[in-house]
Amino acid sequence: CGIVGYFGKRNASEILVDGLRRMEYRGYDSAGIACLYDGEIGVVKCPGKIKGLREKVDASGLGVLAASTLGIGHTRWATHGPPNEINAHPHMDASGHFVMVHNGIIENYKEIRKGLSQQGIECISDTDSEALIQLIAYCYKDNLEKAVSEALKKVKGTYGIVVLTDHEPDKLVTARCGSPIVLGLGKDETLVASDAAAIIPHTRDAVYLEDFDMAVITADGVTMFDLQHAPVNRETTTMDWDEGAAEKGDYKHFMLKEMFEQPDAIRNAIRGRLDFDMGTAVLSGLEFSPRDSALISRVLVVGCGTSMHAGMVGEYAFEEMAGIPAEVEQAAEFRYRNPIITPHDLVVAISQSGETADTLAAVREAKHKGATVAGICNVVGSTIARETGRGVYLHAGPEIGVASTKAFTCQVSVMLMMALKIARTRRMPRHEGEEMCRWIERLPELVEKVLEQNDAIKAVAEKYAKCENAFFIGRGYLFPVALEGALKLKEISYVHAEGYHAAELKHGPIALLQENTPVVALLNDIPGKDKTLGNAEECKARNAPVIAVVSEGDEEIADEFNDVIVIPNCPPSITPIPTVVALQLLSYHIAAARGCEIDQPRNLAKSVTVE
Ligand code: G6P
Repeated sequence: CGIVGYFGKRNASEILVDGLRRMEYRGYDSAGIACLYDGEIGVVKCPGKIKGLREKVDASGLGVLAASTLGIGHTRWATHGPPNEINAHPHMDASGHFVMVHNGIIENYKEIRKGLSQQGIECISDTDSEALIQLIAYCYKDNLEKAVSEALKKVKGTYGIVVLTDHEPDKLVTARCGSPIVLGLGKDETLVASDAAAIIPHTRDAVYLEDFDMAVITADGVTMFDLQHAPVNRETTTMDWDEGAAEKGDYKHFMLKEMFEQPDAIRNAIRGRLDFDMGTAVLSGLEFSPRDSALISRVLVVGCGTSMHAGMVGEYAFEEMAGIPAEVEQAAEFRYRNPIITPHDLVVAISQSGETADTLAAVREAKHKGATVAGICNVVGSTIARETGRGVYLHAGPEIGVASTKAFTCQVSVMLMMALKIARTRRMPRHEGEEMCRWIERLPELVEKVLEQNDAIKAVAEKYAKCENAFFIGRGYLFPVALEGALKLKEISYVHAEGYHAAELKHGPIALLQENTPVVALLNDIPGKDKTLGNAEECKARNAPVIAVVSEGDEEIADEFNDVIVIPNCPPSITPIPTVVALQLLSYHIAAARGCEIDQPRNLAKSVTVE
């Protein structure tokens, strides 16, 4: 979900709705704003996207909303209760004097509701959030921040909240625990949001709250303290973000723009980070001395979704290049299975947004168990980037399309550099390191060659656009790419797609193959190619159409199959990047042909801040 608050001199509703539009990728099930003017609270909310909210606000554009310079807004990714108007935020208490927007999950909301009910206060929505605003109202005597802190002490779970009341029309109160809150300090105005994107058009001066921080925003500025009301100091940082980069420009979708940005995004991710002389990578944020690096006995990569797939490519690279045992784990499971961690383990948390709750929880668990933790994030200043304290930024620029593309290729680029850096403190000779630097430097050019095949890939996509099931198979470095290819397809086209290790298909899933079930076989020239080729033949023998992805020069393999996509020649560790770009284009064009809403697929959110 995305939350925003405004206190200043300009029209609040306009700024709030625009802020929500910029954060819409965080959720778009329903949206709403609440503004305060002359002792009156005006609330507008509706199911669906921000566009609908904007129309509703314009239609009701008189009274409070036209005059108010103080308000809060929310765009929702539903957790408790379907995305209807009652469940949309802001939520109001029963007296109608308090309103709140909330990110996160109040885990003990049932208990709170029961307690409130015994006092005669009934909640009207299905949400966990409403229980919190009712509790805040119940705790209120004469001071909003006191009521908020008292209520929060009774809460189990996570929250990023902004609250206002008409009893004290000169303030907003915000607090965080587990869900990000950033304050934007402008001239004569203060913004508060879950995401820098909502603040950037107004100011670059930002303060990130930490867990259990609260802040009161008034005309005189911001005061920060903890739940016990002891003052806290958080430094002001300057946000460096190109606002134009978050606009779609001439592209039909953000996803399309972001796929075509990949050569530049990778250039930015590797700029200044390759040391050809020493044949290594320079990742200043990692701060390992060669000796510290040599002492690392295992790398554990944690992440979710696409980021986890990037981590899986990293797993191969760490083992193959650096000769260091590596494992990847779904971040949520990492935390719950009580992992065995030694002081010589390096835990790498990988997250585009830097806000994914499951990954953050894994970071905290790893830190608690004494591991060295590093982050690979795209969003500067995000919670995971700050909590890991060391790591590497992608510099990929804002990624808005819900289906991750350029973040993935930059994550893999960074993982390769990380593996190279560690490898060079171990067995890898200088000349091999230098060779690897050369290949990493060529990544943008390899990706360009795949993007040039856009029309050809579109033609293949259109042929298969009506299928309802698809398989992606690969092995070695291309196994994670098969998983990612299938994820892309299901995310944006709603085609049921499965990624499998090429060898695993015959152990069950092959039963599902039919003549209308395409199999995308990753047959690039890497060790094990011939085995994958055999697996693709097995699919063909069961009448499944095979889309063969092959290395340049291997076109004769392709003659045997229905369709072919050619990937430039490169070493196995490099090939996931150009190959995934082909699969991104394939999914994109299938989704486009099916008329899907590519940038905002149903049920998804770009950044999932609940566990
Ligand atoms: C969500 C998104 C995915 C993304 C995953 C991890 O589920 O829909 O596209 O891969 O979160 O996000 P992160 O920001 O941690 O990379």
